[in-house]
Amino acid sequence: MADILLHRVLPMAKRMISERVQPGDTVVDATAGNGNDTLFLAELVGETGHVVAFDIQQQALEATNRHLGELAGRATLIHDSHANVREYVQSEISGAMFNLGYLPYSDDLSIITTPSSTIAAIHAMLGLLKKSGIITITVYDGHEGGSEERDALLDYVSTLHQGDVHAIRYELLNQRRNPPFLLALEKMKDFKEVRTVEAGE
Ligand SMILES: C[S@@+](CC[C@H](N)C(=O)[O-])C[C@H]1O[C@@H](n2cnc3c(N)ncnc32)[C@H](O)[C@@H]1O
Repeated sequence: MADILLHRVLPMAKRMISERVQPGDTVVDATAGNGNDTLFLAELVGETGHVVAFDIQQQALEATNRHLGELAGRATLIHDSHANVREYVQSEISGAMFNLGYLPYSDDLSIITTPSSTIAAIHAMLGLLKKSGIITITVYDGHEGGSEERDALLDYVSTLHQGDVHAIRYELLNQRRNPPFLLALEKMKDFKEVRTVEAGE
């Protein structure tokens, strides 16, 4: 069979990121979790690049460090909210990945990403992003609190000025049992602070 074009959400996020991230780049994993995306990004940026990975759970950072193995030197793991990204990252980034919700297999599944910090982090990272850089956000809405985060995010991305950012939603419509969907943001021009417009403007 020919290669898949319409990937599931997680491989599609990786594919979009791969189009824009080059060896030597700095990138952000906003939700390190078990480190799957951190490892993917560490492979992509190569020996000369760097990944800055955030998580508010020490348990997640330990899992990420183990998962990185010999590539651990390519990543800085930060035990803080992604909303504080500007305290840790001053250089331009070419990509950032968010994978929202709770840490799979965690002892405490009530620790979830929240609308205010997720939106603050995306807003800050849009400023750090290079022109043509990509942010991917994998959104799960099946857990408690998930639908509030989904709605707040959709409201926020809909207000981003089209001249500054192209925002898309991608999802498989024929997948069962609360599949995630993907939001992807591409930076269209250089800016430090993204412009927003009111709905209907
Ligand atoms: C779905 S998991 C991420 C999965 C991960 N990408 C992987 O490859 O395993 C979501 C993670 O976001 C973390 N998280 C929640 N709020 C956060 C915040 N404000 N800043 C950074 N990480 C946060 C959770 O602790 C959890 O580990």
